[in-house]
Amino acid sequence: MTATDRVEAAVADRRELVNDAIAEQLPVKHPERLYDASRYLLDAGGKRLRPTVLLLTAEAVSEVEPMAADYRAFPSPAGGDVDVLTAAVAIEVIQSFTLIHDDIMDDDDLRRGVPAVHREYDLETAILAGDTLYSKAFEYMLDTGAPAGRSVRALDELATTCTEICEGQALDVDFENREAVTTDQYLEMVECKTAVLYAAASAIPAILLGADDETVEALHGYGLDVGRAFQIQDDLLDLTVASDALGKQRGSDLVEGKQTIVTLHARDHGVDVDGLVGDDPTAAEIDAAVERLEAAGSVDHARELAEELVESGKRRLEVLPQCEAHGLLGDVADFLVERGY
Ligand code: IPE
Ligand code: IPE
Ligand code: MG
Ligand code: MG
Ligand code: MG
Repeated sequence: MTATDRVEAAVADRRELVNDAIAEQLPVKHPERLYDASRYLLDAGGKRLRPTVLLLTAEAVSEVEPMAADYRAFPSPAGGDVDVLTAAVAIEVIQSFTLIHDDIMDDDDLRRGVPAVHREYDLETAILAGDTLYSKAFEYMLDTGAPAGRSVRALDELATTCTEICEGQALDVDFENREAVTTDQYLEMVECKTAVLYAAASAIPAILLGADDETVEALHGYGLDVGRAFQIQDDLLDLTVASDALGKQRGSDLVEGKQTIVTLHARDHGVDVDGLVGDDPTAAEIDAAVERLEAAGSVDHARELAEELVESGKRRLEVLPQCEAHGLLGDVADFLVERGY
């Protein structure tokens, strides 16, 4: 079995529990169009990687065999039970909020294989659905049954995460109009827009279960490393995977003029792919751009950087006890850069 097989199995084991919890905690009620739109992407699918990371981290922190304990009353080594499934729902709901608003910003029509929320509904409803999901996540995080001190800390982590996502998205949009962006600036941008949510998914269960500061910090660092690697892989998939398989528009970054690790490395080596900005490129035109990026060594450069981040993330897991969930979190790190979707 490869890391990818093990991660896919771990996600499959937990997917239904997460989906049922979402349906239970986010019922469609009045005004129905708002709640329909809020549930629309959550019901459309998605890989459910972040809630899986959260549940695996809970298992590793409490040294519980995978799937052996009730996630609604999860045993804390520091005493008491915590509803970690509610925390997992909160993280996936934040993910969905960011996707709805991201598709407005990136002018994308396709998400999780269905029309983006602002296309299926309208812009006003999409903005409000995103906002509703954003605030609902805080309601859920308040409701895990963890002792007050731990709940406040988890809420603080979630709030900081959301602020940083906004900062990262602001940098992402700003970079579209900048000539030169450095690798460090790119890494800061992806840390904020993407990696902090992986950091929250791994640190929050440790906080709620009363783990020590060293463990919380290490897990936060794991999320930041593997989350940056995840975004580099997302940038590569944007270039190479057909829209049907990806569930979102191939080549969107080239059309929007995004600065990715691939394009900024290429520009430093005298190759630019600005020709497709604002265009509606064919698959052959995207293939031709990718060939030029590959010839400049930019695709290999991106892969190497992602792999370094994965190795760094895995080293941070050493703080955890040796158990099956610990191994699976290492597999998740590998999967994030091996995945083809
Ligand atoms: C997409 O995340 C947004 C990024 C941070 C690149 P995913 O690729 O995890 O999207 P879903 O949740 O599986 O749809
Ligand atoms: C997404 O970055 C970051 C967030 C959703 C916060 P992208 O814009 O690359 O994500 P995709 O490719 O549209 O999923
Ligand atoms: Mg986007
Ligand atoms: Mg974006
Ligand atoms: Mg992308």
